[in-house]
Amino acid sequence: MTKNKNWWKNKIAYEIYPRSFYDSNGDGTGDLKGITQKLDYLKELGVDIIWICPVYKSPMDDGGYDIADYYSIDPLFGNMEDMDELIREADKRGMKILMDLVINHCSDEHEWFQKALADPNCEEAEYFYFRTSKNGPPNNWRSMFGGSAWEHVGGDRYYLHLFSKKQPDLNWENPKLRKKIYEMVNYWLDKGLGGFRIDAITHIKKEPTLSSLPPDGPDGMVACFGPTRNYPGIGEFLLELRQNTFDKYECMTVAEAAGVPYEQFGEYIGENGYFDTMFDFSYSELYSYGHGWHTCKKAGEWPIVWLRDKMFASQLATEKAGAFGAVFFENHDYPRAMTKYIPDKYHSPTAQKMLGNLFFFLRGIPFIYQGQELGMTNVRMDSIDDYNDISTKNHYRIALQDGLTEQEALDAVARYSRDNARVPFPWSNTKNGGFTTGKPWLKVHPDYPQLNAEDQMKDPGSVYRFYQNLIAIRKSEAYNQTLTYGSITPILLEYENVIAYQRSGEKNICVICSFSHDSQTINLPFKFKKILLSNYPDVKINGERLELLPYQSVSAEI
Ligand code: NOJ
Repeated sequence: MTKNKNWWKNKIAYEIYPRSFYDSNGDGTGDLKGITQKLDYLKELGVDIIWICPVYKSPMDDGGYDIADYYSIDPLFGNMEDMDELIREADKRGMKILMDLVINHCSDEHEWFQKALADPNCEEAEYFYFRTSKNGPPNNWRSMFGGSAWEHVGGDRYYLHLFSKKQPDLNWENPKLRKKIYEMVNYWLDKGLGGFRIDAITHIKKEPTLSSLPPDGPDGMVACFGPTRNYPGIGEFLLELRQNTFDKYECMTVAEAAGVPYEQFGEYIGENGYFDTMFDFSYSELYSYGHGWHTCKKAGEWPIVWLRDKMFASQLATEKAGAFGAVFFENHDYPRAMTKYIPDKYHSPTAQKMLGNLFFFLRGIPFIYQGQELGMTNVRMDSIDDYNDISTKNHYRIALQDGLTEQEALDAVARYSRDNARVPFPWSNTKNGGFTTGKPWLKVHPDYPQLNAEDQMKDPGSVYRFYQNLIAIRKSEAYNQTLTYGSITPILLEYENVIAYQRSGEKNICVICSFSHDSQTINLPFKFKKILLSNYPDVKINGERLELLPYQSVSAEI
């Protein structure tokens, strides 16, 4: 039987951070049963594919991206029966579950690592990067979460960890390890899983000599991107992974593929690419400057044409590669999109809808991040101790080291903290937003009395209903072909506060989004045949002159 490898292309995907989605048993933490209980909510929104962040057994040093056992579910989230039930219940509704596949590193509490620590000569010691060094760490690479990428384990022995010290990197050069990984991947796919989102996968190949490099900061260290991200030779591992696992199933793979240049998009996700699709991060952190979050620029301090140009460059490179990207504006690693793109004083549900419209009709499969469909905004916590995210604590430390006061450091990290996206989902206006009957593991968003799913589902003007419309249009018989497979062309480039594009397939559709807080009139090179959606009740169009209201978006057939 030939496999349908394209089943996912015209679908809508949704990312869940399980710890914060819905708590079914009142222990304060979201769980698998909670997701199962909320499948109908997602179905009603129009979601087909659900990526759940890691639920494997884990000490939770990095939100579950530190896996202690790939074959079991962490008791925080339930057990294997709950996982099987989730897959089954999703299937019944025509939905597919993607798990997170974290195979660049595991947890230091994984059995392999424990064995490796106990006996430097055992097979498992070769599954990691252990090195000896007499004078401090074996090289000067800096880990992504700050400090040396090497951890000392006694004597002159160190191991490499690109992320936290509780996330030792796996040594992909070792064929026995690779075989164990493939077995594990197939174990999950045999359960009928829809596929995987694949974590930090561009890091699995390291520069072989693991040599020091010229420092890029006063700490004498250097960011580990150069020698460990998309390093030459990685393709052999990725191809072998695909051939031994994904190729045998009708599954979908979406790679977290930071650092892949446009010229290599085809190799990664083209016709015979390593993955079906990937997240490209080339336009996700345009605000990022210097070495800490406190040096980032705020929305409004950088021109929106940067977003436009980078976003379209990525879209066009994907199209040219004969590939199909995964498009997103939010995920569990970023602050809410509103904070990234719209100056604080102009935040509004209208602007939220405009951002939704902008990303939703791009070419590629859209991934909505939980709460995005409600227009959730950043959250402000009172003390650094209220934050859980390891990255937030690191950037707080960097800000203090750079001489900021505690208050200034808190202000800076609050804006970019990953916990902005990780706070519990507000289901209703009842206590704790209806997320839990217990004590939530992370503070709930204080806006839940006004901003929650239940109220928005009843309100025809809500952000939720806007997203529901976006999905309905994308899936409609009239526009599905165009919005899925149609080509993309940037338009109206002469207006610097507008991001607009045309999709052309069976039909022609334009999407026009204003990033101005003032009204502006623009001249269109075409006439509207039919307005599909706007975030204002009225669209002021006179022939080919369109008056765009502040942060207005308009999608129309042309
Ligand atoms: C990317 C994940 O999205 C992030 O949350 C995690 O911290 C790192 N990879 C390390 O696994």
